[in-house]
Amino acid sequence: MRRDIADIDSGREAEDQRPYLEEGRRLVESREKELGRKLTCCVVTFGCQMNARDSEKLLGVLLQMGFEDKGEDENADFVVYNTCTVRDHANQRVYGRLGTLHGYKRRNPDMKIALCGCMMQEEAVIEKIRKSYRFVDLLFGTHNLYTFPRLVCDMLQSNRMIISVWKQEKGIVEELPVSRKYPFKSGVNIMFGCNNFCSYCIVPYVRGRERSRNAKDIIREVERLASEGVKEVMLLGQNVNSYGNDLDGEMNFPSLLREVEKVDGIERIRFMSSHPKDLSDELIDVMAGSTKICRHLHLALQSGSDRILKAMNRHYTKEDYLLLTRKLREKIPDLALTTDIIVGFPGEELSDVEETIDVIRKAEFENAFTFIYSIRTGTPAAKMEQVDEKTAKKHFDMVLSEVQQSARNRAGRYEGEVMEALVEEVNEHDSSLLTGRLSNNTIVHFPGDPSLIGQILPIRLAECRGFYYVGKKV
Ligand code: SAM
Ligand code: SF4
Ligand code: F3S
Repeated sequence: MRRDIADIDSGREAEDQRPYLEEGRRLVESREKELGRKLTCCVVTFGCQMNARDSEKLLGVLLQMGFEDKGEDENADFVVYNTCTVRDHANQRVYGRLGTLHGYKRRNPDMKIALCGCMMQEEAVIEKIRKSYRFVDLLFGTHNLYTFPRLVCDMLQSNRMIISVWKQEKGIVEELPVSRKYPFKSGVNIMFGCNNFCSYCIVPYVRGRERSRNAKDIIREVERLASEGVKEVMLLGQNVNSYGNDLDGEMNFPSLLREVEKVDGIERIRFMSSHPKDLSDELIDVMAGSTKICRHLHLALQSGSDRILKAMNRHYTKEDYLLLTRKLREKIPDLALTTDIIVGFPGEELSDVEETIDVIRKAEFENAFTFIYSIRTGTPAAKMEQVDEKTAKKHFDMVLSEVQQSARNRAGRYEGEVMEALVEEVNEHDSSLLTGRLSNNTIVHFPGDPSLIGQILPIRLAECRGFYYVGKKV
């Protein structure tokens, strides 16, 4: 019998997954004997840093079970798509790729396909996949990601589509195996979910309520990462500034940062995302006084119009936002400030867009992600009067050109100077070059040997080309 959405699992408490890791290993081994070769896997991530971190956990489980990471989905025996549903475009990308994957599966009928992540928390998506994508083997959601070992065991012993999606989050489960993409930098979840319910946003519905991880667990994880050679950590949460609000102790985000800063071996600290309504003076002071916290802050504006901000349920005004940016620029002059902007929110008029443009000019963003509003079913904004597509596109172009102007104005400020870069990879287009990242998140390309990857090195930023530098190791 096929299991249904929010199936029998929904009542279970967190359970130990280790026996399933063992069982999975035995199942993989016996299948490998039958085939006379290794079983391969591939985890594809859509969406944000939170999903990327989840994917590292999924891959960690699969490697521990004995799968080999194939890195691409075409010829893998087990493909996992970790999906995003923040805008409709994200969903369409998954459906498009599923079509291609179906072709691969026809060639290799033993291929197993799992879908997980935010899209799976929507009942309409599950229905659509049940009806139109019957070749998918396993569906599970964000709340029961940690039961992946058990689900893989079930899947390997079944020919039916397994659906295991919990409607609600449980507590936080620690200690899944993790396979990190980079040896020298890592994301660290500090909280899960979101309580803000911005009226356009589906995240609180698919990720559940805000849960902060225990500070001790976070610090232990950061210490372990440092002992494994990680130099840079990115603290992750939908609104890191409200970290600790649900914990009994005294710990808030600035105090957590102070603790992370004490960990030997960690040289750079980043975090994502910050909500302007909760960005405190204390946080600005901690950032200003820190030698490890990177000179980059991503602070989503969404709109510069008070009327639209109110309808978005953002809880700040244009002036509040500008005041924050002034304080930040004054106390941390070398800070790079980036943002998210939504254009075409219900009811938005030209005068609102002009307010947004005014903020872009005044805040002088180093960069901004600009999105056309996308209707998300079940959110309050979906029921509001929508802006027609043509107007939204026209407004989007206006905002985008302003963002590009601002980015151009801010780029190249450090030309000729020497700055430290964390060397991340060999340049994609020219293998004689390495690509590094400055504390302010700007990219620099420079000649060098791949053995330097993972090191933090002083680089002369010889020439600014558009939004990146070409430099030389000093
Ligand atoms: N929690 C983060 C914050 O508030 O800064 C944002 C997380 S969300 C995954 C990333 C961005 O997607 C948001 O800042 C917003 O600009 C954009 N976004 C969210 N819902 C959207 C929608 N329905 N249409 C268009 N863009 C949207
Ligand atoms: Fe979405 Fe708002 Fe939560 Fe960010 S803070 S995830 S935009 S509801
Ligand atoms: Fe997308 Fe989920 Fe992140 S909807 S942006 S993957 S929290």
